[in-house]
Amino acid sequence: MRSHLCGVVTDAELGATVTLCGWVQTRRDHGGVIFIDLRDRGGVVQVVADPDAPDAFALAETVRSEYVLRVIGTVRHRPEGTVNPELPTGQVEVLAAQIEILNRADTLPFQLDEADVNETARLKHRYIDLRGAQMQRRLRARHRVVQFLRRFLDRHEFVDIETPVLTRSTPEGARDYLVPSRTHAGHFFALPQSPQLFKQLLMVAGFERYYQIARCFRDEDLRADRQPEFTQLDVEMSFVEERDVMGLMETMIRDLFAEVMEVELPDPFPRMTYAEAVSRYGTDRPDLRIALTLTDVGELMQDVEFKVFSGPAKQADGRVAMLHVKDGNCLSRQQIDSYADFVKQFGAKGLAYIKINDASAGRDGLQSPILKFLPDEVIAALLERSSAATGDLLFFGADTARVVNDALGALRLRLGDDLGMANDSWQPLWIVEFPLVEYDADAQRWQALHHPFTAPDPADLGELGSAPGSVRSRAYDLVLNGTELGGGSIRIHDSDIQRQVFDVLGIGAEEAEAKFGFLLNALRFGAPPHGGIAFGVDRLVAMLTGSDSIRDVIAFPKTQRASCLLTEAPSSVDDTQLRELGIRLRKPVRVPVQEDP
Ligand code: AMO
Ligand code: AMP
Repeated sequence: MRSHLCGVVTDAELGATVTLCGWVQTRRDHGGVIFIDLRDRGGVVQVVADPDAPDAFALAETVRSEYVLRVIGTVRHRPEGTVNPELPTGQVEVLAAQIEILNRADTLPFQLDEADVNETARLKHRYIDLRGAQMQRRLRARHRVVQFLRRFLDRHEFVDIETPVLTRSTPEGARDYLVPSRTHAGHFFALPQSPQLFKQLLMVAGFERYYQIARCFRDEDLRADRQPEFTQLDVEMSFVEERDVMGLMETMIRDLFAEVMEVELPDPFPRMTYAEAVSRYGTDRPDLRIALTLTDVGELMQDVEFKVFSGPAKQADGRVAMLHVKDGNCLSRQQIDSYADFVKQFGAKGLAYIKINDASAGRDGLQSPILKFLPDEVIAALLERSSAATGDLLFFGADTARVVNDALGALRLRLGDDLGMANDSWQPLWIVEFPLVEYDADAQRWQALHHPFTAPDPADLGELGSAPGSVRSRAYDLVLNGTELGGGSIRIHDSDIQRQVFDVLGIGAEEAEAKFGFLLNALRFGAPPHGGIAFGVDRLVAMLTGSDSIRDVIAFPKTQRASCLLTEAPSSVDDTQLRELGIRLRKPVRVPVQEDP
């Protein structure tokens, strides 16, 4: 239908007749001459209709924004003074000889690339939202990222293998999406939370290097960086140790950033143990761009009269920590109060602070509501330990370690934001030496920190039965600027150890057999040592394109309440369909509610 893309009509085509197709970006009627900016995937070019071509001119008078046109015309120089150096096609225009309206368009619910369109409207009319330059740029960037990853892995002899979407539950820690079976009434498939078990079976099958751009499904509470269905770059390798997987994957990410962003990431990526990350940053995904750190002060507070501090300081699961804010003295009382409110959402009961007005004046140089509770030697030790200077501020958290870590960890990020401390660098980081399991007090049992197939560190294997909480695993996470981009581990390839780990997790022999018998069997038929990793493709692309939410890099994402505003899924179904599936609803279905993203 066309000879050229709009965006590539340049001086080189001067005098040529071109046939273009595209959408009307804008139409300007200059009384006697009509200018149309015609847009296609290649860009925009200016089309001119004048009364010398009366049919084309008459049609041009009727077109509106986003009409779809076919234009035949000749390329000519723009008149003096109307050249647009911003546009690749800005030197030329196309004088229309013929215009054909391929389709009309109603007035759009919002303008393309209009700022501040509410997201409900964007998602409801996603095809229009996607037509805008920004979403086009993001999805094309996503394509380039995925193509790069595929090429890289292909070069390294990985085989792309698809695994089932109708399958059994894979325990990654979220709730499953279930699909009822018609042929086996009362039975359900689960959509995979990840291809974890299948990729391990592919290692038993001898493929040695597997990858897949895999859709994963998790019914969990959604946030800006979580969707109910999302995409992983899933990788598994045989005959490898941690450094093999981490080394190759690090190269892949480094090369990706170099190619797509022209950004040089450090070589090698730094590593940090889980214990250090939690102790210094309050989280296992620290954003290293922010130079604030937490320091333990529990042992200084054991005997102070201030119960708020001495209580948690004496408790085994308690923590008293301070966050040293360089130049934080500028924070007003009001700001400090708002931070105290902020940390409450993480369970903190308060937020003590010390302002350092004059570091050389001892107690007299300090300003704080808790000063009166602290003896001189404790104050001196705090100042020394933090190396706080005049103009700085110290925040304190005292509670269970979890609350203190969550509260001060989040406060650290908030301060980084508010005080403009995050420099615009890229700070990748491997987190290693995770605990194998953590105790879930609600469920009263041990839970796998990564997943139940992660290998324990052989050095700690002896404690698996006696002190599971102190066993380290062979898991690793890749964190970039505070976002967990990927995570993986070396797996258990010995069925006895797998049974022992199931045992710790409270999965008895019978349950293990029923749920994971196929895996335990496979491990007995010559399973090689193996390990792997999975990256969140949506998160990776969101970071690379500077998008705030992964919704902005997914063509048709779901809302915060896991629904699709465009197709209005999920929806109710006919009684006949339910009957076929052997399902009766406990409550009648109501009309779906309107909601925000
Ligand atoms: P994990 O559960 O850590 O590991 O997931 C790997 C990566 O997937 C991304 N991710 C998500 N992205 C968007 N929305 C979600 N709801 C979501 N959940 C996870 C994250 C995360 O780092 N089978 C293991 C991998 C392995 O051991 O090889 C797994 O799925 O970026
Ligand atoms: P109070 O004596 O309860 O008024 O507390 C004195 C100061 O300690 C106030 O600044 C509180 O915000 C702070 N505070 C109270 N509880 C905690 C806590 N668990 N951790 C840190 N600071 C706290």
